[in-house]
Amino acid sequence: MENTLVLIKPDGVQRRLIGTILARFEAKGLQIAALKMIRIPKELAERHYAPHKGKPFYPGLISYICSSPVIGVVLRGRNAIAVTRGMMGATFGSKALPGTIRGDFAISDGLNLVHGSDSPEAAAQEIALYFRPEEIHAQAPADQAWVYDCSGGSPV
Ligand code: RTP
Ligand code: MG
Repeated sequence: MENTLVLIKPDGVQRRLIGTILARFEAKGLQIAALKMIRIPKELAERHYAPHKGKPFYPGLISYICSSPVIGVVLRGRNAIAVTRGMMGATFGSKALPGTIRGDFAISDGLNLVHGSDSPEAAAQEIALYFRPEEIHAQAPADQAWVYDCSGGSPV
């Protein structure tokens, strides 16, 4: 099973879309392994978005992500990183396809509701920025044998 970091960004919280967005991930079969609400301090935002430092949108991105509380979530599942990114949709709300979170709920290019890690390396780094190891729960969900085909031993 793979872990990924999702943030419900300030616009998602202010627009009361926390439940709607989390419900989509849960309905898909992804497990919420950790969850918290935080106001991201500037230093944390700069560490999280260090790969974008120097890009024209970087200053606006930092002030946006720090502008109001966010929800930090560790999602767990098979191919969780790619599955989550697919469910989020393209970066810009104006381009994201219907059926995706950004495609259904965002029209802005900058305010795009969610963040999701884009690689296993990024997921490990980003999860460590927001959660201590003991805050991430290891227990498998009770419905695992119905969410995955476990007949061969490992879930597929
Ligand atoms: P995220 O990191 O938030 O999950 O989004 P992403 O992978 O789809 O997009 P990324 O290229 O990593 O960009 C990070 C965030 O910066 C803002 N952005 N603005 N105006 C622009 O050209 C621009 N490009 C990116 C978005 O908030 C994007 O999610
Ligand atoms: Mg990104």
